[in-house]
Amino acid sequence: MSHPSTFWDRIAKRYARQPVADEAAYQKKLSVTRQYLEPSSHVLEFGCGTGTTAIYHAPVVADVHAIDISANMLAIAKQKATDSGVDNISFEQADLHELTCPNASWDAVLGMSILHLVTNKDAEIQRVYQLLKSGGVFISSTVCIEDSGAWFKYVAPIFRWLPFLPTVAVFSERMLKDSLEAAGFEIEYDWRPSPEKSVFIVARKPLQR
Ligand SMILES: C[S@@+](CC[C@H](N)C(=O)[O-])C[C@H]1O[C@@H](n2cnc3c(N)ncnc32)[C@H](O)[C@@H]1O
Repeated sequence: MSHPSTFWDRIAKRYARQPVADEAAYQKKLSVTRQYLEPSSHVLEFGCGTGTTAIYHAPVVADVHAIDISANMLAIAKQKATDSGVDNISFEQADLHELTCPNASWDAVLGMSILHLVTNKDAEIQRVYQLLKSGGVFISSTVCIEDSGAWFKYVAPIFRWLPFLPTVAVFSERMLKDSLEAAGFEIEYDWRPSPEKSVFIVARKPLQR
């Protein structure tokens, strides 16, 4: 079976050209995310893709570390950051489990359109929890196709057997929230424009004394 990065490497240029599917929803997510960021924030984004979200937030935080498994996505992201004159984003080809930074390094972790694409969302969420500082926030946007009623949810499990397509996990918003809470997060904000749209969640790692 091919590595999941093969698919994303192949579509990177096309992905970069595509307009955002729901611009109004994306803008709202950016603006809510901003409310949780501060000039001193150290931000990690995983599955950063072509870097649009990282580049948007970088000017208002201390720094952003943006990671992705796809070299081609990262190449586009780096070029966009340079073109935008943003110099406080570091890029790394890695997934969350390959990161070598110490635990409790980050004030905020962003995971936009990624949790439904990983093979084990619970392991990913637990890793985010480890990586966050006490009181830090995990901000995510996730397709929960179990709730959508779309035909796609019935064929999605087959995708994992097709080497040229990425895994798309089938779970509901409730299951996602259960996973976040089981890891120790407290859900502070959630928004879903409609059942077929992604669910946007701000989850906090409680302050530990
Ligand atoms: C749907 S795109 C989302 C990109 C970006 N976050 C956005 O909202 O436009 C998914 C991205 O996640 C990356 N990806 C897939 N699996 C990953 C993993 N396990 N760890 C890190 N990145 C991953 C892909 O290479 C791709 O760039």
